[in-house]
Amino acid sequence: MSEQASEVGNALLSWYDRNHRVLPWRIAPADRARGIQPSAYHVWLSEIMLQQTTVRAVQPYFLKFVSRWPNVTALAAEKDDEIMRAWAGLGYYSRARNLKKCAERVAFELGGIFPADVEELKKLPGIGDYTAAAIAAIAFGRRAAVVDGNIERVVARLEQIETPLPAAKSAIKKRMYAFTPGERPGDFAQAMMDLGATICTPKRPACGLCPVSSACSAGGTGEAEKLPVKQAKKPRPVRRGAAFVAVAEDNSILLRKRPGSGLLGGMAEVPTSGWNAKCDGALGAAAAPFAGDWQMAGTITHVFTHFELRLDVYHADFALRPQVDEGWWSPQRELSEEALPTVMKKAIAAAMESTQRKSRPGQGTLI
Ligand code: ADE
Repeated sequence: MSEQASEVGNALLSWYDRNHRVLPWRIAPADRARGIQPSAYHVWLSEIMLQQTTVRAVQPYFLKFVSRWPNVTALAAEKDDEIMRAWAGLGYYSRARNLKKCAERVAFELGGIFPADVEELKKLPGIGDYTAAAIAAIAFGRRAAVVDGNIERVVARLEQIETPLPAAKSAIKKRMYAFTPGERPGDFAQAMMDLGATICTPKRPACGLCPVSSACSAGGTGEAEKLPVKQAKKPRPVRRGAAFVAVAEDNSILLRKRPGSGLLGGMAEVPTSGWNAKCDGALGAAAAPFAGDWQMAGTITHVFTHFELRLDVYHADFALRPQVDEGWWSPQRELSEEALPTVMKKAIAAAMESTQRKSRPGQGTLI
């Protein structure tokens, strides 16, 4: 290991001992030193949840999951729909489907024990390069190169890597491996994450407070903020569709289940015209799945990874419930228990707001 690498390792670990973020899936360094081991189940669950989602958003979901399903066998034994319901609002729902599949593999084929080896971990559903390295390092103390978005930025600055992302990924991973110490590789990875989240931030990094500024090529030069260089992204295409919020006389709302695979697979929705990453859906009340006094309630926007969706929301009250081929009527007070993704919650909120506006004209919206 080079002198610079061990300087970075030592400085960062002692900074982490004093400044680590307290997070519910973490074992604090002092407890780790007393021999308390992290649970591989907790590390795996948190890392799956943290893919593409912020630490702040994940915490309540993590706490809910571990209190309901305290170990991987309990999660594996749960019904898929219950897991989708508990995941609702966290986004990227294929993660929840893979979470269940992975739990089943570990519980029923591996005796409830997660493998410690990166290559073995990568054979499990939903576990790619990043997650395998994170589990191996944090849960099992294996020396592995953990590279998430925060770490990518820290390494690009430490090493002044000017090749644009994503081409720079493999150079960054190699450098991260070189920096990673054989002792406490999991704490080192989490220290890099915390440094990226609190000091080596995308904008206006606090180089004056950085524990590794003396080893950093870009730090303090005004250049740090320009790194990493990112290849310009193509603008997101816009897709259109219509959503239909049918409200029965007892205030329940008609929901149905989306197909098991694909976008928002297995989640609940109000009836919609088709829309996906490749094509627009039909627009207008004529696209409704059954006749009703459909009134336009507004348009909501939701950003998915590969496109932006604009949904025209229609609302209709039904004194008599219409005959429908599929779905169920969900009482409004129980909607929070349904596996409704955020885009559907937005559509229902738009419909409800428009009826409140109509019944109390001149009072504006409730939100
Ligand atoms: N982001 C992804 N994994 C994380 C972890 N273990 N701690 C903090 N932020 C993270």
